[in-house]
Amino acid sequence: MKILTILGARPQFIKAGTVSREIAKHKEIQEVIVHTGQHYDANMSDIFFDEMQIPKPDYFLGIGGKTHGAMTGQMIEKIEEVCLKENPDWVMVYGDTNSTLAGAIVASKLHIKLAHIEAGLRSFNMKMPEEVNRILTDRVSQILFCPTDTAVQNLKNEGFTAFDIKIIQSGDVMQDGAMFYKSLAIKPQCKLSEDYLLCTIHRAENTDDEQRIQSIFKALNRIAKEKQIILPLHPRTKKILDNLAIDTKNLTIIDPVGYLEMVWLIDHCSLVMTDSGGLQKEAYFFEKQCITLRDETEWIELVENGFNILVGAEYEKILTAFKNRSAFEAKTLDLYGGGKASQNIIQELLAYEA
Ligand code: UD1
Ligand code: UDP
Repeated sequence: MKILTILGARPQFIKAGTVSREIAKHKEIQEVIVHTGQHYDANMSDIFFDEMQIPKPDYFLGIGGKTHGAMTGQMIEKIEEVCLKENPDWVMVYGDTNSTLAGAIVASKLHIKLAHIEAGLRSFNMKMPEEVNRILTDRVSQILFCPTDTAVQNLKNEGFTAFDIKIIQSGDVMQDGAMFYKSLAIKPQCKLSEDYLLCTIHRAENTDDEQRIQSIFKALNRIAKEKQIILPLHPRTKKILDNLAIDTKNLTIIDPVGYLEMVWLIDHCSLVMTDSGGLQKEAYFFEKQCITLRDETEWIELVENGFNILVGAEYEKILTAFKNRSAFEAKTLDLYGGGKASQNIIQELLAYEA
């Protein structure tokens, strides 16, 4: 069986790397990896391949830093060329980025079977590019690997059971990755207090809305008077902060870090504040409370069970959530499959082919 894996953005390196390790255990599976180039800076891309035992991509398409249409269009053209050359049995895509959608469109047009990992997630906000990408990708897949029961239920609610698509609750590959990399974690070079807060901001709905980004950074500057805030800064956010000349002098801003350093930072922080999807779950895996700077989340089980507080971007709400923070409540539920998702995914693909 030949699997063509499409990746391009930071979270996909971590997820696909985890599944690649599982694929490598099976001699009957050949994996061909295509890196679209959506993320291209050394600390957004190379560092993950260098540090994390992820196989080097077989193809690098070099398509990044463009508008959504140009990026997705050029990816479609190049991925199609690779698919025609490689003739895979499966195209495998991850999550909800433009690289995901491009891979899905190519596979469906060429009638190559498509597997979507992290399927069924919904924010119900159609203004998010990710929501559009994931809905379209789900609809043209042959097999949907859902990380949570909520994701399976979302697909049922949208009538997916009437389609010829297999829906599997596989668990979440990010949990497999977090468990694997925990013992390899590396302390970053920056100066850290005992009790620091770890923060990341990069979602378009925050960075591309001046009022929201101003209000978030006003709140962070206020909080930083009480607690050190470490903020590994995504290049998208860096550009906006520079353009708007937003004050960040109270914050400890560092370049994006590799995953081994990120895992260390999550494991040792006292609180997480983020608009990232992946980091919301990693906070839970490492038993840290998470304040989420978004109006909605795909990981509603974290909110329902009190591990995650959704605050949006309003100054007062952010400060109130910070003041009311509490210790992490003991985990009583296994919300993400306990680290067996990659294994489940590969078993299901082999069974599908048999
Ligand atoms: C993308 C995904 C988002 C995901 C995020 C993970 C889409 C629509 N969005 O958002 O779902 O959460 O990746 O981090 O696919 N840039 C650099 N260097 C890089 C990468 C990006 O300078 O290595 C700049 C780009 O030039 C661009 C901006 O950052 O101006 C945004 O990059 P892009 O890939 O479009 O989207 P992300 O915000 O990273
Ligand atoms: N991450 C990282 N270094 C950083 C910031 C994030 O390794 O400087 C990790 C983060 O822990 C998560 C993954 O990158 O596992 C994806 O996060 P991101 O916020 O970029 O994307 P999202 O999950 O929101 O799509």
